[in-house]
Amino acid sequence: MSMPTPQRPPLRFPPGFGWGAATSAYQIEGAAKEDGRGESVWDTFSRTPGRTRNGDTGDVATDHYHRYNEDLDLMRDLGLRSYRFSIAWPRIQADGTGAPNQRGLDFYRRLIDGLHERGIAPMATLFHWDLPQALQDAGGWESRDTAHRFADYADIVFRALGDRVPVWLTINEPKTVVQNGYLSGHHAPGRQDPDAAYLVAHHLHLAHGLAVRALRATGGPGRIGPAFNLHPCYPADDSPEAAAATRLYDGYENRLYLDPVFTGHYPQDVLADLGPDSRLARGIADGDLEVISSPVDLLAVQYYTPIYVTAGGGTVGRWPTSQAPWQQIYPEGMYDVLTRVTRDYGPVPITVTENGLPTPDTLGADGSVDDPGRIAFLRDHLAAAHRALTAGVPLESFHAWSLLDNFEWDEGYDQRWGLVYVDYATQRRIPKTSAHWYRRVIADNAL
Ligand code: FCB
Repeated sequence: MSMPTPQRPPLRFPPGFGWGAATSAYQIEGAAKEDGRGESVWDTFSRTPGRTRNGDTGDVATDHYHRYNEDLDLMRDLGLRSYRFSIAWPRIQADGTGAPNQRGLDFYRRLIDGLHERGIAPMATLFHWDLPQALQDAGGWESRDTAHRFADYADIVFRALGDRVPVWLTINEPKTVVQNGYLSGHHAPGRQDPDAAYLVAHHLHLAHGLAVRALRATGGPGRIGPAFNLHPCYPADDSPEAAAATRLYDGYENRLYLDPVFTGHYPQDVLADLGPDSRLARGIADGDLEVISSPVDLLAVQYYTPIYVTAGGGTVGRWPTSQAPWQQIYPEGMYDVLTRVTRDYGPVPITVTENGLPTPDTLGADGSVDDPGRIAFLRDHLAAAHRALTAGVPLESFHAWSLLDNFEWDEGYDQRWGLVYVDYATQRRIPKTSAHWYRRVIADNAL
């Protein structure tokens, strides 16, 4: 005789909780040469031999630029309440400066209207790494001027779309631009220059602050905040050396981004570690930190993995990984990261704008795509987020990364992160088992 499975009470989310999914422009849109779009650093990078797996590029991606209506219907069928996407700067200003390209703005207007028609709240990221190549040629984020160009671009977008976008995010994961773009170099623009990297961090922060001020200047109703990928850092052992190394690691991973925006200061330990002559230290002009710490309305948190730091300042793995070798699956980290932000930076409203994993999905003979690993991952991370809510974290929404399988940067199309499978040969979309599961969670508003 089998025993009945013990029933645990459902984890109910607050009424109106913003169930969502996320994407970004270069990863899904394709249509790289259409309607006046200029080139971005990711066009250049992905077309450079050896930079991406299999030489994959975002030229076609999931062809979302042409198939956005079908994708909007997929979102409606999932029951999404929020959709987080990004606007491609080179569609709005091909070279990153000057008059806006109306056809680019029109595309996002159609997308945003389509979301509203389906009862889905748009959440627009202004910059998800696709810097116009012409600005890169003029120095990119190493140049202070790029922050001002970004503010001009943001102003154009706010004035064109601000009546219809309730939430804006400024810069997606400045840390990834710093670390992958300028330290390891495995993302565009492919540099390996630590001194440049932290100056880039400063200019990304400045761009963020200028954009916040630009939105306020329009008098528009939208809310705005930064989008940070935060990595909880834990000592790998009990030694005082590991504790000290973890503290500094946390400075580089988390406080370097949170502190300037929320406290108006760079973390002293990181500044000291970089030294008084670093390009970051020399690049901070009077008044910059006031701009950078302009009050925001919310913080977007992206959580994927913890980091374990050794006494020597290296890192070790402790939990199972996914197909993304940098990822360790540790749901408790979601709770730690959310409660830490609230504890250390006050009760700023929080949205989780990315959380997910790649799984080795295949299209079955019966036409279905079964991804139990994604269901387990999302369930465990949402349970941890729910505990954070119960502990008082003002979490208002959650966005799975990603709505669709897409171009995963230097990994090309090998890693599948979507709730919806994309058959790239035909561009057919097939909701995975996890999409059906997520639809149920959304309908129940409970886990
Ligand atoms: C984040 C990025 C997003 C996607 C996921 C897997 O760092 O913001 O575009 O690549 O990782």
